[in-house]
Amino acid sequence: MPRVLITQAIDPAAVTLLRDAGVEVEQRQGPAPITRSELLRLVAGCDGLLPMLTDRIDGPVLDAAPLKVVSNHAVGVDNVDLAAAAERSIIVTNTPGVLTEATAELTMALLLATARRIVEADHFLRAGGYQGWRPTLLRGADLDGAVLGIVGMGRIGSAVARRAEAFGMTIIESSGDRGLPLSELLTRADFVSLHCPLTADTHHLIGEPELRAMKSSAILINTARGAVVDEETLAQALAERWIAAAGLDVFEHEPAVVPKLLELDNVVLLPHIASATTRCRRRMGELAAGNLVAVLTGRPAPNPVT
Ligand code: DGY
Repeated sequence: MPRVLITQAIDPAAVTLLRDAGVEVEQRQGPAPITRSELLRLVAGCDGLLPMLTDRIDGPVLDAAPLKVVSNHAVGVDNVDLAAAAERSIIVTNTPGVLTEATAELTMALLLATARRIVEADHFLRAGGYQGWRPTLLRGADLDGAVLGIVGMGRIGSAVARRAEAFGMTIIESSGDRGLPLSELLTRADFVSLHCPLTADTHHLIGEPELRAMKSSAILINTARGAVVDEETLAQALAERWIAAAGLDVFEHEPAVVPKLLELDNVVLLPHIASATTRCRRRMGELAAGNLVAVLTGRPAPNPVT
């Protein structure tokens, strides 16, 4: 009977799918990510691994077990050393497609929350600041008529574009044939939303020159990967108002957040919940489980990462 380690509690439907296929499942529980030593210990003897995006899967982990497959519970695979897996003929899979709409919805939530200062307004009211309606109270920015710059027009970027157009926004993009140079997108956009994968090329893609190039009224949204943005510089940009606001669902060193960001009221901070709907997380789990079962029963993986 093949054996798999799941490094965090996932949707029960996915675990059932594995057990029904005759797979022996070890599922770790707990609010914190698995530690490195726990991972090295628990993976030993496993044929398959179902890790989270917070788990670093590199040579030593791949060598700790007779693994045939690493089925990442995420569409992003920047946590997996793909070259090391390929060297060992270990198949890596991900969960594309099923989280597109949920991530696009959360991106819209951040666009609206930052533009209309929703979190700040909630805190203001709870603190007893509301003394009555007045024309100058908590004015924000319009989405209608604004230009949204999308960096990374893949599945998720396109889903955001469709929604943003319905809000009356004009879309510009910095990738593909119709794409603008990033520098031009940044100077033209009222909102910039990041949807590119994290690679060596996109690491700290948004740093000081890019933040200084943006309009002082601009808002930056990141639901991609934290390390696409230089967060220390972003904190300075927000504190000194090089840009107006930011909405962040991801951080370079999750779960840690740059302390300066926590002090600012022009940034909305979320704990990486873009795909956190019940339907989406069930589908992610089922896709990840299906990939494991396919490889462990000698069939091609539905979602191999190439
Ligand atoms: C992913 O799957 O890469 C997402 O970041 C999860 O929300």
